[in-house]
Amino acid sequence: MEIKIFENEKEIGEVAGRFYVDFINANPSCVLGLATGATPLPVYGYIAEKYAAGEVSLKDVKTFNLDEYCGIPQDDKNSYFTFMRENLFSKTDVNPANVGFLDGNADPDEESARYAAAIESAGGIDIQLLGIGRNGHIAFNEPGEEFTGEAWKVKLTESTIAANSIYFTDSEMPRYAMTMGIGSIMKAKKIILIATGESKAEAVRAMIEGPVTPHCPASVLQQHPDTVIYLDRAAASLLK
Ligand code: F6R
Repeated sequence: MEIKIFENEKEIGEVAGRFYVDFINANPSCVLGLATGATPLPVYGYIAEKYAAGEVSLKDVKTFNLDEYCGIPQDDKNSYFTFMRENLFSKTDVNPANVGFLDGNADPDEESARYAAAIESAGGIDIQLLGIGRNGHIAFNEPGEEFTGEAWKVKLTESTIAANSIYFTDSEMPRYAMTMGIGSIMKAKKIILIATGESKAEAVRAMIEGPVTPHCPASVLQQHPDTVIYLDRAAASLLK
């Protein structure tokens, strides 16, 4: 694991965003694994800004998102698909035909097989972007007794429901989601994980300095050959 520490999330947005823009310009038909949540917003903002300035095009980029809620339509205002459309897809020239998303309302086993096949036929994920949950989750792989494999249907934990229910102001937050598994995430050629803020400091410490254990799913990244962790000072504050 390579660890990079920055002053704040704005600086991470610029440095990681610049990395993405350069990578896309060098590899215009690359395959990007994308995450939702608050953490990647500065990176998406940077890419959108450079697209608007004519410095990068995403028209041949293929994308696969990590996860999607079950039990709400894809165009629900709180779906992860809507999040991506609002924060990246509609602000760039990503071709809708190149967007891969888990269907939270499909049969979980069939959907898992479909997603794995789609990623494989695209040539695999070049860079997987990740955030981390306060309990060490990556995508919606919550702490448990074993590392998960390909995409699967997960019952969300109380900790995740508490963290994400702030977005569901006038409807109830779904209790299940489809998520890429740890096995599918680990297949990515490169992984970039971003963590910002003090609330992530303990999870970051466990991920980097703790044992590799499914009790902290992100700790598995210690075994990935090319993972870069971008932290702000607050998220890095408990590291030795
Ligand atoms: C999002 C995802 C989650 C988030 C994590 C952190 O697609 O899979 O694992 O990355 O919950 O969320 P934020 O960035 O909102 O703190």
